[in-house]
Amino acid sequence: MQKMRNTIASITIAFLLLLLLLLHVSVSSAASYDDNNSLYTRFLQCLENHTNPSSQVSNQVYSQSNTSYTSVLRAYIRNARFNSSSTNKPLLIVTASHESHVQAAVICAKSIGLQLKIRSGGHDYAGISYVSDSPFAILDMFQLRSISVDVADESVWVESGATLGELYYRIWEKSKVLGFPGGVCPTVAIGGHVSGGGYGQMIRKYGLAVDQVLDAKIVDVNGNILDRKAMGEDLFWAIRGGGGASFGVILSYKLKLVPVPETVTVFRMERIYDQNQSVTDFVYEWQKVAPATDDGLFMRMLIQPITSRVRRPEKTIRATIVTMFLGNADQLVSLLDKEFPLLELKKENCMEMSWIDSVLWWANFDNGTSPEVLLDRDLDSANFLIRKSDYVQTPISKDGLEWLWKRVTELGKTGFVFNPYGGKMNEISPADAPFPHRAGNLYKIQYSVNWEESSPELEKNYTTQIRRLFSYMTPFVSKNPRRAFLNYRDLDIGVNSFGENSYEEGKVYGVKYFSDNFDRLVKVKTAVDPENFFRNEQSIPTLSSKA
Ligand SMILES: Cc1cc2nc3c(=O)[nH]c(=O)nc-3n(C[C@H](O)[C@H](O)[C@H](O)COP(=O)(O)OP(=O)(O)OC[C@H]3O[C@@H](n4cnc5c(N)ncnc54)[C@H](O)[C@@H]3O)c2cc1C
Ligand SMILES: *[C@@H]1O[C@H](CO)[C@@H](O)[C@H](O)[C@H]1NC(C)=O
Ligand SMILES: *[C@@H]1O[C@H](CO)[C@@H](O)[C@H](O)[C@H]1NC(C)=O
Ligand SMILES: *[C@@H]1O[C@H](CO)[C@@H](O)[C@H](O)[C@H]1NC(C)=O
Ligand SMILES: *[C@@H]1O[C@H](CO)[C@@H](O)[C@H](O)[C@H]1NC(C)=O
Ligand SMILES: *[C@@H]1O[C@H](CO)[C@@H](O)[C@H](O)[C@H]1NC(C)=O
Ligand SMILES: *[C@@H]1O[C@H](CO)[C@@H](O)[C@H](O)[C@H]1NC(C)=O
Ligand SMILES: *[C@@H]1O[C@H](CO)[C@@H](O)[C@H](O)[C@H]1NC(C)=O
Repeated sequence: MQKMRNTIASITIAFLLLLLLLLHVSVSSAASYDDNNSLYTRFLQCLENHTNPSSQVSNQVYSQSNTSYTSVLRAYIRNARFNSSSTNKPLLIVTASHESHVQAAVICAKSIGLQLKIRSGGHDYAGISYVSDSPFAILDMFQLRSISVDVADESVWVESGATLGELYYRIWEKSKVLGFPGGVCPTVAIGGHVSGGGYGQMIRKYGLAVDQVLDAKIVDVNGNILDRKAMGEDLFWAIRGGGGASFGVILSYKLKLVPVPETVTVFRMERIYDQNQSVTDFVYEWQKVAPATDDGLFMRMLIQPITSRVRRPEKTIRATIVTMFLGNADQLVSLLDKEFPLLELKKENCMEMSWIDSVLWWANFDNGTSPEVLLDRDLDSANFLIRKSDYVQTPISKDGLEWLWKRVTELGKTGFVFNPYGGKMNEISPADAPFPHRAGNLYKIQYSVNWEESSPELEKNYTTQIRRLFSYMTPFVSKNPRRAFLNYRDLDIGVNSFGENSYEEGKVYGVKYFSDNFDRLVKVKTAVDPENFFRNEQSIPTLSSKA
């Protein structure tokens, strides 16, 4: 009897223990669920408090436990390096569908003390619009993408979430003789592109995207919407190339459209070193012609290591010229016959087409593709990418080029894109916008390595490789500071931890991106966001209290 009672007692105790254990598990998971849930609840409540109920903000907030969270996050990841399980993820994503959602997101992230990352098209090469080391939320702008073209005024209001492809398409719908001098890749969005100083194949004729900005609307740190008049000329200047994300959330820009001829001409021509060692002369000559020729002519030079056809598996160099000319083929052939005889351009190498078809051709669509593809957003797909940038101010000698070809083929994967400046770029003062790289810069180099498989070892190798090439280039490029292009985001050139030395840390990358404009950006920043709410790895620091 006693024994049975003992058994019952121990069964009861075991049962109670089990119950306790279960209870504990559910309590602790409820607690951790509640941590996130309460952040979500508090944030949502705050958003609701600051928006009109009819704008339905609650349908635009995704917590990590939401079944659509992953697809929303991935939709605008444009670099597969930041699409891994080890990448830090946002606690919340707000997919603003109304301006008031943007205002409320700023107010609420600030009051809760959450870092806010702003994402328009997600093309940042370092992923800083959707990755962070501290707890953060993403303000996703892709739904705010209206475009209104005013042909009579030759201008357009375009919201940040619109892509360049959509912008070009909407212009073309209304006029065949207007265009916009923005970037080549149609899925890049306005928010990052314009605020970072974007450029494209009409840079020599019309300058940068920021050179066309007439007005803008921004949500400031207090959640107010300001246009050019309300924000004042200093802040307006800053968001023309200083990076929007240091100053506020850009809702839209008003941009000046530019005239384009009904017929433009493109061509692509290449030279391969082991078939023709005049590649060196070819690139050497290009350095002299491309930055100095007619403003309507943009000749991009691609330098890539490829497998030799004659000495497989050795590598050789391929130099490819990709061209846009705002005129017809006869004009282009006679111009280059005179200025660049080594090219041996023939009329049959050229293709005449409309401006919109040249946009498609530059974006590598097949001949005959309909402009509607420019409306595709190409969601949730990306290569693994690393980019770096440099500026060349004096031509590289033939010996220098020969030496470089050896380094590029030894490394084996990293290539260069040389983008000629000159033309309109020489006419605009370096202080006119935060983007400072004007007269005196012959061409910009983009270093580029892409790959397709996920592999930490490959990533490590390619990171080492592109850094090595960057280091080999030191004698050939700008110095003190060594210049860089903000839109080719590169965290190797410095990051800010926003501690006591934030100004000094900011200056390290700041003078590379902005040169003498850095201090003016710091002043604007200090005036408009003294508490540094709008910050990221390479944002503009405030003048700290010590200053
Ligand atoms: C495939 C590819 C091709 C490219 N081609 C070109 C080119 O031809 N010419 C060129 O100049 N550049 C080019 N770029 C670079 C591109 O211009 C920049 O990466 C640009 O910043 C991308 O803008 P986004 O809105 O798509 O990116 P995002 O990653 O969303 O944003 C980039 C930066 O801007 C900030 N930001 C975004 N939206 C806002 C906003 N509304 N308000 C405030 N801050 C904001 C982000 O926080 C981030 O710091 C290319 C990039 C890629 C990946
Ligand atoms: C809560 O958020 C943290 C931080 O992102 C995360 O690590 C954790 O797994 C989340 N917990 C739950 C239960 O979702
Ligand atoms: C929202 O407003 C209500 C009522 O004014 C208030 O009680 C609550 O604290 C507010 N919540 C947040 C998160 O702002
Ligand atoms: C996920 O979030 C969206 C946007 O807020 C919301 O509409 C949806 O109901 C949520 N889904 C779940 C399963 O919670
Ligand atoms: C090599 O290129 C030069 C001009 O760049 C050209 O004149 C020559 O015909 C080419 N030779 C071959 C074999 O292609
Ligand atoms: C491109 O297509 C047009 C007609 O669609 C054709 O006339 C032209 O020859 C094509 N060009 C090339 C290089 O394929
Ligand atoms: C991210 O990875 C998933 C697989 O894990 C893949 O389906 C998706 O296409 C990837 N997206 C991007 C932008 O790389
Ligand atoms: C990385 O580089 C090392 C050393 O050069 C090489 O042995 C290795 O095969 C490379 N790994 C990959 C995945 O390419």
